[in-house]
Amino acid sequence: MDRYHLTRSLNSDGYDLSIVECDIHDPALIPVLTELDLHSYTEPTFSRYTLGGLMRFGRLFLIKADTLVIGACHTFRNFDDPEEVVIFNMALRPGWRGHGLGTRLLSGVIEKLKEHGVKRIVLAVASNNHRAIAVYRAKFGFVSVDLLGNEFNNGQEYHLMRLELA
Ligand SMILES: CC(C)(COP(=O)(O)OP(=O)(O)OC[C@H]1O[C@@H](n2cnc3c(N)ncnc32)[C@H](O)[C@@H]1OP(=O)(O)O)[C@@H](O)C(=O)NCCC(=O)NCCS
Repeated sequence: MDRYHLTRSLNSDGYDLSIVECDIHDPALIPVLTELDLHSYTEPTFSRYTLGGLMRFGRLFLIKADTLVIGACHTFRNFDDPEEVVIFNMALRPGWRGHGLGTRLLSGVIEKLKEHGVKRIVLAVASNNHRAIAVYRAKFGFVSVDLLGNEFNNGQEYHLMRLELA
């Protein structure tokens, strides 16, 4: 575990940062993840039911500062290609963004997915989400493989991005 200091943090003691793979269903996380989601998007991504289902049958990864959940990444396998994992959602609490922690979280997720034998990762990201695209493309080498014109029936264009894991 790393001792992590935010660049402009007033907390001189820093935080213990950890990336946690949740392979146990924990309903107590549902309000935590709901709050994180509502701080991240103007429309909710999840209900308690989708979160419960994703936690039990998909795979959830958390990034924690000490014991506080500061971010989450929700994944599941692609039904048509079980060697491919979908990153359905990844978000950090607002105050923790822009400090390299999304990159840390995704790096940890990729390492753990490799250990599970996953060969490819795919995700959809809004074309105007330049920060997220920068993380996926520049930090990890995700490639845009398609442009999705109206994937979620909201008139928003999305990049379908894929990463082949060596
Ligand atoms: C997307 C998210 C997880 C990224 O995590 P993060 O900790 O903020 O990102 P990092 O600090 O690790 O990296 C961001 C990189 O993007 C770059 N960046 C930021 N804004 C950018 C912009 N407008 N255009 C291009 N690059 C940009 C930063 O410079 C940084 O790269 P650097 O380290 O080389 O300077 C986080 O910002 C978040 O939770 N956003 C809201 C939810 C969301 O949009 N999730 C993605 C849905 S697919």
